[in-house]
Amino acid sequence: MTLKTIDLKPKVGTELQASREDFLNGKYAAEIRDLLEERGVVIIRQVNFDDDEQLQFARTLGDLVTFHDQAIFKISLDPETNPGAAEYLKGSLLWHIDGAMDEVPSRGSILTARQLPETREGNTEVANSFAAFQDMPAEEQAELEKLRVVHTMAASQRRTYPDATEEQKKDWDKYEPKVHPLVWTHNSGRKSLVTGVSADYIEGMDLEEGRALLQRLDDFITQDEYVYSHEWTVGDLLIWDNTVSLHRAAPYSPTSGRLMHRTTLVGEESLA
Ligand SMILES: [Fe+2]
Repeated sequence: MTLKTIDLKPKVGTELQASREDFLNGKYAAEIRDLLEERGVVIIRQVNFDDDEQLQFARTLGDLVTFHDQAIFKISLDPETNPGAAEYLKGSLLWHIDGAMDEVPSRGSILTARQLPETREGNTEVANSFAAFQDMPAEEQAELEKLRVVHTMAASQRRTYPDATEEQKKDWDKYEPKVHPLVWTHNSGRKSLVTGVSADYIEGMDLEEGRALLQRLDDFITQDEYVYSHEWTVGDLLIWDNTVSLHRAAPYSPTSGRLMHRTTLVGEESLA
């Protein structure tokens, strides 16, 4: 059996169909990795992996991020399921890349749906910033390639906490800002835009002018044609490529019972 691929929208998202066994033994790993970088997000419907299977499948795609020896993270906004993390995860409701303050952001993440609200809220949304950049006129691409963006923790947080206290603001400022090129040129030759909520301002440009440009770019990337919004069914698996996309969770109630298990692939390319 070969890997069957079904494009979910012309410019973003592909559904993968193959036997469970072939996903687990890595038969199509190289193909899936390449598809990810081009399509931004891939899904496997109702594959129903348990944690061991999720880890086995994830390892076929790359090395896994671990925290206290764990490579499965529970994603929930409910403080009872996930003490401490819920506050932080509120930020996941805004378009962002993961690890924007890192030299080598993660390659991507694998999410599986374990419990879902009956209201069907809380889609996962991915915007393909490779496809968006590719559609821009060559002159605009060339101009954007000259720019560098300063990413800060304050920028990541202030839209979630507009009424932050001075103490909170001081905390954010403890994080070293990170300067990245606006356009990431990947080893494959593909190019993508690196923006999202962490992008604070453009180096050497008037503050407001730079922020207006970043907003225009985010608006461009997150237009409907570049966005795939996944309406979950329990057992679905979704992978987003963090290096060529922005992602967010659509709003859902913290007490909705929505629970995802997440595994993150270690980054492989520095942002350059
Ligand atoms: Fe994220």
